[in-house]
Amino acid sequence: MRILAFESSCDETSAAVVEMDEAGHLFLRSNIVASQVETHRLYGGVVPEIASRAHVEAITGITKEALAVAGVTPKELTAVAVTSHPGLIGALLVAVNFAKSFAVANGLPLVAVDHIKGHIAASYLTGEAQRPKTPFLALAVSGGHTALYRVEDETRYVRIGTTRDDAIGEAFDKIGRMIGIPYPAGAGFDKLAAEGFASVGGYEAFRKSEFYKDPFYKLPSPAVAGESLDFSFSGLKTAAINLLHRQEQTGTPVPKALFAARFTYEAVEAVAAKAALALERGSYQALVVAGGVAANSHLRRRLEILCRGKGIPLFLPPLSLCGDNGGMIGAQGIFEYLAGNRADASLNASALDEEDR
Ligand code: KG4
Ligand code: ZN
Repeated sequence: MRILAFESSCDETSAAVVEMDEAGHLFLRSNIVASQVETHRLYGGVVPEIASRAHVEAITGITKEALAVAGVTPKELTAVAVTSHPGLIGALLVAVNFAKSFAVANGLPLVAVDHIKGHIAASYLTGEAQRPKTPFLALAVSGGHTALYRVEDETRYVRIGTTRDDAIGEAFDKIGRMIGIPYPAGAGFDKLAAEGFASVGGYEAFRKSEFYKDPFYKLPSPAVAGESLDFSFSGLKTAAINLLHRQEQTGTPVPKALFAARFTYEAVEAVAAKAALALERGSYQALVVAGGVAANSHLRRRLEILCRGKGIPLFLPPLSLCGDNGGMIGAQGIFEYLAGNRADASLNASALDEEDR
């Protein structure tokens, strides 16, 4: 079977063709992504109205390209999939309406896809290689989410932990902006932190370094204390903002690389600690990591160490599939289709997570 999938929940317009062969292997035949990052950078973050307009302008061309690269015609498709939630409502509506029209015009079934399940499904695009076995633990770390899920099967999720305020990616973006890294700050922050870790002998040596022990640079953990699997990134973010303001007022320059390392260390250790706690509590066949922040090199390495220690397979999407893309929506769309889930012309978009409605 073969699915054409659309994604427009934030600042990337994307269309992709995903195929499942008879043995159940998933292949990405095309994955065209038009990023609006350069446009929004001017404003230091995503401007929803500009995002919607840019999606409208891009989606037709992107669709033609996705079909051409995959070498398929609409007649050779089994279904159409689209991200219906969560995200920016005006942005989501562009692909939802386009997908509806495309499905009706070509007599194809329509499937609605949850954006977070889509991110996690990026790890199903393994071609001939083994997919994660269920039940698995999923960790979603993006600009809008920091959450842990028990995934019973590809379409049945139970959220077991989440952030109570800001998301991890949002925190990287805000603090990154304050230390002069352009939006979205994640990748730049990652590089700067790498310099900081290297200067004290690496990530593992960081906790024992003089800088880590300096009370002036102390930052709180975003892991909610105790047995909860929740996070709170606003405390870490506020403490980092206060620290930067204090330094500015006293005219003391901040060692940016070490500061970025300190912030990254708290964020990564908190996520690793809660993932470890979840793995101890349930029986899982794998840990699957997803979302834009899954591209973070320090988080990737830390989770590799965690999973090696626990003897559990770790699935990290390739960097090209960490950010928003249609391929991941197509992968999830195939499982929604196989589970019999269908949408129709009444499909609407929603800004909210399934759990928060
Ligand atoms: O999943 P995504 O593309 O969009 C959402 O659904 O939110 O995630 C975007 C987030 C941004 O906050 C960006 O700064 C962050 O992912 N990000 C990173 C890295 N690359 C992207 N954060 C930390 N380290 C990175 N290497
Ligand atoms: Zn996303």
